[in-house]
Amino acid sequence: MGSKKILLSGVKPTGRPHIANYFGAMRQFVDLQDEYQSYVCIVDYHALTTLQNSNELASNTYEMMLDFLAIGLDPSKVVLFKQSDVPEVTELGWIFNCITTMPYLERAHAYKDAVAKGKEVNVGTFDYPLLMAADILIQDADVVPVGQDQKQHVEYARDTAEKFNRIFGEAFKLPEPLILENVKTVPGIDGQKMSKSYNNTIPLFATDDELKALVMSIVTDSSSGIPQNVYAIHELLRDREYLDKLYEEKKGKYKDLKEALLVDMIAFIKPLREKRAELAKDRQFVLNVLKEGGEKAEKKAAQKIAKVRELVGVEI
Ligand code: TRP
Repeated sequence: MGSKKILLSGVKPTGRPHIANYFGAMRQFVDLQDEYQSYVCIVDYHALTTLQNSNELASNTYEMMLDFLAIGLDPSKVVLFKQSDVPEVTELGWIFNCITTMPYLERAHAYKDAVAKGKEVNVGTFDYPLLMAADILIQDADVVPVGQDQKQHVEYARDTAEKFNRIFGEAFKLPEPLILENVKTVPGIDGQKMSKSYNNTIPLFATDDELKALVMSIVTDSSSGIPQNVYAIHELLRDREYLDKLYEEKKGKYKDLKEALLVDMIAFIKPLREKRAELAKDRQFVLNVLKEGGEKAEKKAAQKIAKVRELVGVEI
């Protein structure tokens, strides 16, 4: 265990995950849990930048634990925890604030997008990349699996590690992003990119009835006889060879093709949904996993912050 490289990733608890979340990111955590000493963090303090409702934040965090356990994250291999259980992260975030310039943070895509949309940006949103850098650096992460949209944030973490090491002395490893190269953008049921904000998702733990309604309503383009959106979603579940044959045979028969997708989708989702329902029967177990994960992550963070405190000169 000691010789394994360290992986850390964070996910915001902002609601029900969908199949593009699963194939784009979540599944990777499961695939990599044997190879790396893994830390998967529910970043509740990041969520607080936009989600300001206590019941919702608390229930989203619990639900996300169910999601993670249901997809097969094994608590004996992965430290599953919530960010707020490691207060050293916010402490480190402050220290990073003090060595970072405003213009540097003003270059962050997420911040620029919010400004471009005319949003009134809160300080937490502006500072978001440094809290994320603290998440990553405090656990000595070697790799950070993220989607393409988070690449810049991992670069911010690297830059911040370098800057700290240069000013105060060696404390942090330089993390590498682990970008899923072969993940294509998954279309939602309306053909746009699948995204919660477009209201076009297929939830990962949907019921059979929900799946039926959603799959049958996928928007098809009628030009080629091959419904591209249906195919693109189907590709998550079946290999191309199988699909090309099927879609050639059923060319133009959109209803049949959607039904074929529905059958495969149900076969894939049903066991996950059932496992999740099983886990939901034992709330205490789930909370214990979360608590134990928090304790492990906090213990490791405490060692790092002790060193950092010494290096910056607050220990006398
Ligand atoms: N910013 C990430 C996202 O929105 C979430 C996140 C927070 C994260 N802390 C992290 C991801 C640390 C990886 C590592 O998806």
